[in-house]
Amino acid sequence: MKIAVTGGAGFIGSAFVRHWVKNHPQDQLINIDKLTYAGNLENLKEVEKNQNYKFLKADIADTQAMLKALDKVDTLINFAAESHVDRSITDPNPFIETNIKGTAVLLEAARENKVKKIVHFSTDEVFGALSLDSKKKFNATTAHNPRSPYAASKAAAEDIARAYANTYDLPLIILNVSNNYGPFHFPEKLIPLAITNAMEDKEIPVYGDGLSVREWTHVEDTALATEVAIAKGVIGETYLIGTEEELPNIQVLKKILKILNKPESLLKTVKDRLGHDRRYALDSSKARKELGWSQKYDFDKGLAMTVEWFKNNTDWWKRVKSGSYQDYYKQQYEVSQE
Ligand code: NAD
Ligand code: TYD
Repeated sequence: MKIAVTGGAGFIGSAFVRHWVKNHPQDQLINIDKLTYAGNLENLKEVEKNQNYKFLKADIADTQAMLKALDKVDTLINFAAESHVDRSITDPNPFIETNIKGTAVLLEAARENKVKKIVHFSTDEVFGALSLDSKKKFNATTAHNPRSPYAASKAAAEDIARAYANTYDLPLIILNVSNNYGPFHFPEKLIPLAITNAMEDKEIPVYGDGLSVREWTHVEDTALATEVAIAKGVIGETYLIGTEEELPNIQVLKKILKILNKPESLLKTVKDRLGHDRRYALDSSKARKELGWSQKYDFDKGLAMTVEWFKNNTDWWKRVKSGSYQDYYKQQYEVSQE
């Protein structure tokens, strides 16, 4: 099988690529990534020399490049996106370009190339926000109600994908995934930012009252959910992937400080995020029942492993924080690709 992954140099995409390349040596995998600030080829060192792995630097919004890249591809996994809510509040434009236009271009190229299965990565954030005092959860039939430019761009991408499935029989599976955490997480998101700041004895910004609630899935569990969606997912279906373990941000931060033996005085309340979504919660029973997926790691175990990984990989995150990780592409690829 030939499998194409977009956004495979990012956090979740690279976890999936590392897993797939190691566990499916008979498949050819092509990783298509534009290498924005969030794309880091150092995340793929473990597999970059494997015979069944190939990297292509390209933008999913580039029609000609996508038509060519998807030639003879059987399965496409679309991870590529602008993914950080705070950046979308500062400037929504790249979100509209990549998440909406890029998805549309990619799907059209997949249609032209008659790709047999497409797994499109979406988020719980498309469904809007739940209140802290409700017991409600999102499920596959919950209507979209996005509240940030990021969430709106992801909702639009999903709508385009569904329209293609309905109109052109595009063989589509959608995964709405909860917040992820784990190794190689870019340190602008809450958990890696807190771990690395705490390790450097720097303050950790707590937005507002710190009581917003998220459901955290370990990235390796998401890679396994993707693998099982490729194998068993029913074309046309949507699956929600989450641990069903909800946690207020402040509790997450206190757990990190406890593991690192750092004082809670590092927590610093800052101005709340504009339009901050209070709570996300996913009903993942469909994925559990129909795909047979369940998480391997509960949050305490996964968090302890993640903190350990950041302790053992200070070079990686220091290079990310300083920006020097972007030199790696030049060393590894630029010469050979031009
Ligand atoms: P990320 O920001 O870490 O990585 C995104 C990757 O996409 C990067 O490698 C980047 O270079 C690449 N990319 C961006 N624009 C591109 C373009 N125009 N063409 C080609 N490549 C491009 O993101 P992530 O956290 O790994 O998220 C992966 C997917 O999962 C996204 O679709 C995101 O919306 C979704 N998601 C993420 C989370 C989470 O907690 N991280 C939760 C739910 C859903
Ligand atoms: P984030 O990791 O950006 O993910 P998302 O916004 O997609 O859920 O943020 C997770 C939660 O943590 C969210 O409620 C915002 C909050 N947060 C902080 O309190 N401080 C921070 O520095 C960041 C980045 C996030």
